[in-house]
Parts: sequence; C-alpha cells; structure tokens
Amino acid sequence: MNLRADFPLLANDPGLHYLDSAATSQKPKVVLEAIRDFYETSNANPHRGAYALSVRATERYHQSRFRIARFLGVKDSDCLIFTRGTTEALNLVVASWGRANISRGDEIVITALDHHANFVPWQQLALEKHAKLRVCELTADGRLDLDCLRGLLTPKTKVVAFNHVSNALGTINPVDEIVRLVRSNTYAITVCDGAQSAPHFPVSFDSLGVDFYAFSGHKMLGPMGLGGLIGKRELLEKMPPYQTGGDMIEFVGDERTTWNVLPYKFEAGTPNAADAVGLAAAVDYLDRIGMDRVLEHERSLMSTAQRRLESIDGLEIYGPLPSARSGVLSFTMSDVHPHDLATILDGEGVCIRAGHHCAQPLMRRLKVVATARASFYVYNDERDIDALVSGIMKAREIFGYVPT
Ligand code: ALA
Repeated sequence: MNLRADFPLLANDPGLHYLDSAATSQKPKVVLEAIRDFYETSNANPHRGAYALSVRATERYHQSRFRIARFLGVKDSDCLIFTRGTTEALNLVVASWGRANISRGDEIVITALDHHANFVPWQQLALEKHAKLRVCELTADGRLDLDCLRGLLTPKTKVVAFNHVSNALGTINPVDEIVRLVRSNTYAITVCDGAQSAPHFPVSFDSLGVDFYAFSGHKMLGPMGLGGLIGKRELLEKMPPYQTGGDMIEFVGDERTTWNVLPYKFEAGTPNAADAVGLAAAVDYLDRIGMDRVLEHERSLMSTAQRRLESIDGLEIYGPLPSARSGVLSFTMSDVHPHDLATILDGEGVCIRAGHHCAQPLMRRLKVVATARASFYVYNDERDIDALVSGIMKAREIFGYVPT
C-alpha cells in the first residue's frame, strides 16, 4: 500500500515519518477538497433557510450522516448523533443518561485501560451521585482481566464502560465477550469508546451489541472537531437533551419546551456540516482501500516494528502480542526518558507521542510515568520503521546506554 502521495502534508515533506496517528491522523486531499467544496458551493446554515442554498447545505449534512452511519454499520442513521468527538460523545452519555439514571448506591464499572475521556466523566458522576466507581484491572500483558470484570458485576451495576481498543497499548478488547458477561449478570448498559477502533478495522455497531459507541473523525482521516455518538434508539428516545438551544426544540412555550426528534434533540445550535461532509469523504476513502486491508497493513507493520524493536537491548514493549493489538506500539528504553527519546526522534523527522497518553490510571498500573508510543496508519510503510529504529539507536548513543 503506497498512499503517501494522497496526503499533502506527507507528500510535501518526504523526510517526515508520522507515527502519531493514534493522536490524530493526517488528512487525504479528497477530505480537504470536500470541505473546501462545501464552503465554495453549499455554505449556508442547515435546517434554517427556505432558500435553495440552505436546502443544499441541509441535504449534504444529511447525506454525510447516512454515509458515516453506513460505514459504522448503523441501519438507523438517526441514532448517530454528531458531536465534537469521542470526549464530547462520552460526556453526552454521562450528562444525559447518567444524570437521569444513576443514583446513590448504584455501581459504575470502568476499566484501568480506559482513556481519561471514558474514565473521568464516570468518576465525576459517581462523586456527584454518591454512586460506587469500580475499576476492572488488567492482566500482566495489558488485557482486561475478565475474571475481575465478572467479579465486579452485581445487581447494582448500572453501567459498564470500556474501550474497544486501548489508545496507550493498542489492546483490542473482546467486546462480544464483555457484552455477554454484562448481559448475563446485570441489567447494566454498555458504553464503548471506539476512538481507536473505528479508524483501524471494520466496525458494525448493529452487530457489536453495545448500547453506546463513541468515535472521533479526526483519527480516521477526517477533520478535527467532528465525531459522534451512536446509541440504541430506545435509550436515546428516553434520554433528556444534553444541551439546549436552537434546532433541538419542537415547540418553545414561555413556561415549557418540547424536544425535536432524533438526532436533532442532541444537536443544539448550528451543526458542523462542513466537517461532516469532510468525514463522509474520509470514510469513502477508507472504504475504497477496504477496512480489512487497512487492518492487514497495520498488522504487518506492527509485527515488523515489534520484531525490530524487541531486538534492541534495554527496550521494553508494553501490551499483548501484535496479533491482539491494533496499530499501537508503546515502549520505554532504560535510562532514556520517553520525552527525551521523542525529542531526539523529532530531530530525525520521526513523530511519536511520549507521555501518559491521557491514561494515568493505566500508567500507574504499568508502574511507569510515561511511555513512548509509535502508532501506524494507512500511509505508513517500512521506511517509517527504519527511521524509528535508527532514531532510537541514536538516542541510545547520545544517552550513553550501558547494557545491564
Ligand atoms: N487520545 C489521543 C491519544 O491517544 C489524544 O493520543
């Protein structure tokens, strides 16, 4: 797969090795063109004007929702609510479903593998409602400990929140098994953070079995500032609005207001139509490649990178084997702080992320303050791995690595 030429930022900088797609992906030209085309040919406020231009903007916004829903395997596209991204989607569930359904003494289960976006909102809700927060622990190789999860499920469990893929380790969680466990032991709802799965392999919400699934467009070749929440209709219908204002209302009386139908009930204010059009172009692009091929490509890069990094003395890789991971390689090197490593790699044109990856509970369990993380996507190839390896060797030299 040689797609670098489709990505202007990469094509314009041949010496750049972008290995931070778990943070945000680069954008292909077709996405940039789609956004520009929206503003040049269709820009008006959707749902508000009686004139042809506004109708066109509305149409393009709706078509984008259909397209993205089809990509993510949701038949009922009204159940796909556009948000700013995964963080806002998860905050929507917590603020709307959570505030209405969690009360004193209820139990909320989250996991030590979760990103702060699926951890902190639940923690804060538990504090606000005097509910109990329970954290599912991990196996030694960085997978969810399903025995621990089973032990946490009680008749008081109201929600189980987890990620599909860990942003810090790349662990792919067995959603089917988790949902089965939750369903057979509780009446709890399941909330899945899909920020790191939707970009990397085929996902079908209707088959996953979870009640809510959150995703971010900017990690899947789309623009920043647009993602979504997919939910089961019966839950979304009963939930109170998240934000109030224009577009989400049906009738506003002086004393009371009634709400619009799905998805508009959850989309107050002017929608981000241009970025929805951009994300629709991104999923068109991904579908042209084929999500099975995307997965295969990343798996092959991951295995090569794992093999090459494993052979570096003093380097430790975290998480399960590459066959159980998606696109992410998290590691530390003895005597070199991940931030120093990232700085030296940057000097070689290699972009990686170093830090706690917004997953401090996980770092505590790994007993590290930070890791270095290389993450792969469709535009990466073996030259990026070569540059990563030679940058790491350079860092070892600079820091005078002494084998123990
Ligand atoms: N969640 C993003 C990451 O893992 C920001 O880098």
